[in-house]
Amino acid sequence: KETPIVILNFKTYLESTGENALKLAKSSEMVAEETGVNIMVAPQYADIYRIAREVNIPVLAQHIDTIDAGGHTGSILPECVKEAGAVGTLINHSERRVELFEIDAAIKKADSLGLSTVVCTNNIETSSAAATLNPNFVAIEPPELIGSGIPVSKAEPEIVEKTVESIHNINPEVRVLCGAGISTGDDLKAAIDLGSEGVLLASGIILADDPKKALLDLVSKI
Ligand code: G3P
Repeated sequence: KETPIVILNFKTYLESTGENALKLAKSSEMVAEETGVNIMVAPQYADIYRIAREVNIPVLAQHIDTIDAGGHTGSILPECVKEAGAVGTLINHSERRVELFEIDAAIKKADSLGLSTVVCTNNIETSSAAATLNPNFVAIEPPELIGSGIPVSKAEPEIVEKTVESIHNINPEVRVLCGAGISTGDDLKAAIDLGSEGVLLASGIILADDPKKALLDLVSKI
């Protein structure tokens, strides 16, 4: 079995902004090196460049806009996140939803630039739809559990299991992650046991008193 994947979404917490973002990325790198777990970080756009220069773990954007270069003030040009050092992007996070045609366009644009794609979804149906668009990953995150501290892998194991099954029937190439409320080693282990390849998480680590310790605990059971 492959090494589990842990994507730490920095969202817009002050604890993961600016200097704090860099510190958290460095802690993530240390834990990745110490444990061999594949940890990726998704900081805010303005922190991508500095983090990508200073750490050796994959950096993802939290979103890209499906625009072409030109006059789009205030937008996020995919080429720009790539030049800043991101190697992939989240798409359709529950806090940054886009329409189906935009998910498709974002995946195609990211593919053309060599950026990996992690499409976030809210239920089995949208996960199945996302799988047909051929992203690298689909991350199922029931919105009501996001930030709740109640782990999806324990509270709604069937949604993870059924998503894995449905996606693999539709497109076996797509790798499945899950997220929402994940914070402990048991939560991650449960996610892996349900057939996902890893987790997407935020508050359980970012808001912990000692995020590095929390990350070490997260990966301690696998
Ligand atoms: O992208 C990760 C996510 O939405 C889950 O958030 O705080 O429940 O780990 P959290």
